[in-house]
Amino acid sequence: MATVLDVAKRAGVSPMTVSRVVNSSGPVSPKLRTRVEKALKETGYVPNSVARNLRTKRTDTIGLVMPDITNPFFTHVVRGVEGAARDAGLLLLLTNTDQRPDEEARVVSMLLQRQVDGMLAIPAGTCAETARLCKDAGVPLVIVDRRPETPGSIDVVRADSEGGAYELGKLLASLGHRYVAAITGPAYVPTAVDRAAGFSQAVQEEGLPPPIILHGDFSLESGHEMTMELMKLDPRPTAVFAANNFLAIGTQHAVEELGLRVPEDVALVGLDDLPADMVTFPFLTVAAQPAEEMGRRAVALLLKRIKEPGAPPEEILLPTELTIRRSSGDPLPV
Ligand code: RIB
Repeated sequence: MATVLDVAKRAGVSPMTVSRVVNSSGPVSPKLRTRVEKALKETGYVPNSVARNLRTKRTDTIGLVMPDITNPFFTHVVRGVEGAARDAGLLLLLTNTDQRPDEEARVVSMLLQRQVDGMLAIPAGTCAETARLCKDAGVPLVIVDRRPETPGSIDVVRADSEGGAYELGKLLASLGHRYVAAITGPAYVPTAVDRAAGFSQAVQEEGLPPPIILHGDFSLESGHEMTMELMKLDPRPTAVFAANNFLAIGTQHAVEELGLRVPEDVALVGLDDLPADMVTFPFLTVAAQPAEEMGRRAVALLLKRIKEPGAPPEEILLPTELTIRRSSGDPLPV
């Protein structure tokens, strides 16, 4: 196994020069850099990252804790995180909690035992336990997608769920809907609560009665089940707001199962878009979150926090983007 000394001898430079080239940790003239890179190739030298990490007390790895690896919204967040981590020379350790807070505590502890330099977490519920574990370990933490219970208490990068849902509520009111419903995720998930609140505020600002609000678990099955319940009501809601992508698909399945049509019988709007490469005919009117940008910005904030651990926490709130398609239908007859 070639050593730094073998490379230095072959390149005719000092071992310090080799170390600077390998670790990008200091000035090296282009001429010497070329000689060192040639010698690295010829000797097949592989840096010993464990030894280097012992010296630098860094592992050049970051952890990402996410609640549902099957959801395309989260996979696009991961795409943004992984790309930014790679550009920064970091390895990403990805874990999935299946929306279970107890599982989140377990995987966060495992990532901390592996000495990650920083942690990104999309909390399954509240972020208090994860924040405590990271603080005790002295590891910077950035919360992604879901706001912490206490505003301003911790770094967070998220999309404006409330604003996106508000826009969809205003859209349905502008189309003439008067009796509407919202189906959302668990009451302990901040994005589920914020979306219901934004939608409800918009609808009531337009003078409509408060919308029916049902809490499920952000799954397709839950969307189907809640919509079957809504369609039995008399009067039946003329429009449904689904607070995430899976709920919207479940709503469509239920409406069609009942022999009804979207939007002719029930208008449908959703938060989160479905990736264009997964949908044959984009149909759903959505407020979409900038998932990949959310991931990239979260890594940038984490790197900043690693460098400046004492700086005050920041919140980065990204706007959603409204795309109107066929599922919200035409204005109702007056
Ligand atoms: O699909 C799960 C939802 O909860 C997504 O919309 C995401 O924003 C998360 O908070």
